[in-house]
Amino acid sequence: MSVSRRGFLAGSAAAVGAAASGRLAAAGAEAPPPAAPVPFDGPHQAGVLDAGQAQATYVALDAISPERGALSLGLEAVSSKARRLTAGASLIRADVDEPPSDSGILGPSYEPDGLTVTIGFGASLFDGRYGLKAPAGLQRMPSFPGDDLDPARCHGDVLLQICANNRDTVVHALRELMRPVRSAFALRWTLDGFQGASRSKGSRRNLFGFRDGTANPDVRDDALMRRLVWTPEGGTFQVVRAIRMHVEFWDRVGLREQENMIGRTRDTGAPLGGTQELQDPRLDLDPKGDRIPLDAHIRLANPRTPQTDDQRLLRRAFNYHRGFDEAGQLDQGLIFVAFNQDIERQFATIQKRLAGEPMADYVTPVGGGYFYAPPGSRGPNDWVGSGLFT
Ligand code: HEM
Repeated sequence: MSVSRRGFLAGSAAAVGAAASGRLAAAGAEAPPPAAPVPFDGPHQAGVLDAGQAQATYVALDAISPERGALSLGLEAVSSKARRLTAGASLIRADVDEPPSDSGILGPSYEPDGLTVTIGFGASLFDGRYGLKAPAGLQRMPSFPGDDLDPARCHGDVLLQICANNRDTVVHALRELMRPVRSAFALRWTLDGFQGASRSKGSRRNLFGFRDGTANPDVRDDALMRRLVWTPEGGTFQVVRAIRMHVEFWDRVGLREQENMIGRTRDTGAPLGGTQELQDPRLDLDPKGDRIPLDAHIRLANPRTPQTDDQRLLRRAFNYHRGFDEAGQLDQGLIFVAFNQDIERQFATIQKRLAGEPMADYVTPVGGGYFYAPPGSRGPNDWVGSGLFT
């Protein structure tokens, strides 16, 4: 223990030095809320690398258009509405005898408020109804051991991820996005999420009280994003898992045991034995798990070996609170969201390794799905998903 601990602390001093010199500065650093509009158009969709908004809603839709042409018009309308909403607007006063063109819940003019709308497609959209060719690697999310999936909260032909700095901006965007496309899409499930407020430096906390998002790959490293997040076409696979957290049960566990389950200190987010959130856990110096147990969540999720390096993924989680269940237990949890280039190589491999981890007794995945978020729209005459119809 003493040798590995000394070695670990010496290693961490080097890591802090590297961070100070700027090399590691972005890893795990908390993304600030976007102030300027996040453009809807671009080579990649918004809402993947640009995190930082405090509020989100995930909306899964079923396509109900009778044929392909109507589906493509519906998708085009979603993009064109999203483009306008994300830019902010001043409403034009129309004929007072007509229904207003906007619900008005943000007032007569509104700022972009960091709004991003990210559009993805589930495997069911490619079931032959519309004659669309499925993107290679897109499948229906399976049920993993320990899952208790509710079919009413899973899958969907289309997924909208709507994020903004304020809740009313998200609600407004959803309402306006749905207005023109009610004949093309039916709501299947929705899930609202929020981030902890920024009360101290470092990553926000999840509902177990631990910092979440610390060890994400650096989104400013283009080469790394091309290796871990983007497909060769510029899209990405989005995994959404609604994971119920049994918080009453968790709150009865000793702090040491909680920290051993995660592998990090609750207050600072530092790896066990360390002092700073962004320190390298130096698993290599602790092969027997004296400092960080071998079955700790961070250790199983990312063993940090050359063989597991290309399994890393970009996480973007939100907390959820949905009231309480029929047993009077709080219905709280994590909207686990991961962007990755290849679901089997990355998310599914990690998920299988996490099977049976001690934390599994305190969480139950109940919903979600796998989606392919295609490249961004190339401009006002293009729309997200147009490539599927060519
Ligand atoms: C409710 C369920 C979960 C909770 C409460 C949770 C919590 C955490 C916490 C506290 C950390 C450490 C801080 C950080 O680096 O963000 C972490 C890291 C991580 N988690 Fe989870 N997690 C959950 C589910 C998952 C799932 C389903 C996966 C993937 C299948 C996953 C993959 C990871 C990865 C890859 C890391 C980073 C490990 C590293 O590079 O050191 N987590 N998680």
